Amino acid sequence: MIRVAVLGAKGRMGSASVAAIDAADDLEAVAQVDIADSLDAITAVGAEVALDFTQPDAALANVRWCVEHGIHVVVGTSGFDEAKLQEVRDLLGGSPTVGVLVVPNFSIGAVLLMQFAATAAPYFESVEIVEMHHPDKVDAPSGTAVRTAELIAKARDAARAAPIPDATTTDPDGARGAKVAGVPVHAIRARGYVASQEVVFGGVGETLTLRHDSHDRESFMPGVLTALRAVSSRPGLTVGLESVLPVSG
Ligand SMILES: NC(=O)c1ccc[n+]([C@@H]2O[C@H](COP(=O)([O-])OP(=O)(O)OC[C@H]3O[C@@H](n4cnc5c(N)ncnc54)[C@H](O)[C@@H]3O)[C@@H](O)[C@H]2O)c1
Repeated sequence: MIRVAVLGAKGRMGSASVAAIDAADDLEAVAQVDIADSLDAITAVGAEVALDFTQPDAALANVRWCVEHGIHVVVGTSGFDEAKLQEVRDLLGGSPTVGVLVVPNFSIGAVLLMQFAATAAPYFESVEIVEMHHPDKVDAPSGTAVRTAELIAKARDAARAAPIPDATTTDPDGARGAKVAGVPVHAIRARGYVASQEVVFGGVGETLTLRHDSHDRESFMPGVLTALRAVSSRPGLTVGLESVLPVSG
């Protein structure tokens, strides 16, 4: 039985995770921690692995606490850009014994979309990302969009692709979106969405649109459970569900 502490346990993802963990034969949610609770509850009940679904401004401190207390951590919270990932590497040090697995998206469809996007990236002049989420989400762009943009940029750089063409010279209100790794990202926040993403590629006379929709938070749970089972056998920092799934990364 893997003893799991869920951080952000009262939130949307945290409460869905507690239910999924308790329904699994080999996992047990032994601690449910939310904003008013002390992290000491994690060690008090002997949890081996923590799952963080809190807020971007809280998650890094939680990871630090867990690493310092020898607890493996799966991080689902958004906002782990390269600077934060480097802080995690620094925390873990040269010969880590603790595993930290940062997963921008736990759904298999979203992970595959990111891989398909990286495959397509060198073949198209233009690329933009549109991500759509529920209006209660506090951060933009989504962690998935950031990761997708980074993977696209890496594939374009490797192929020595020319810069994305764009004649815009006037955009006082930011209508062309945020630039993440040079890729325009547009964020929609509307009731009815859980998490969706489109990647639009443009070439001469054609466009290719890749789209993924999570209709329900259930879509994340198989990935959450896979990550919780894998993290203790991967000391150091690992990024992306593809690292622990049998799909090529
Ligand atoms: N990786 C993925 O696949 C994935 C999927 C969906 C959402 N997310 C991300 O997960 C995070 C949580 O999303 P949500 O929709 O569940 O949010 P939510 O607002 O419903 O829940 C967050 C919970 O964390 C608690 N919290 C805040 N600070 C805390 C702290 N310091 N310690 C303990 N608890 C704290 C809040 O009280 C709240 O109950 C967001 O960053 C979101 O973008 C990731």
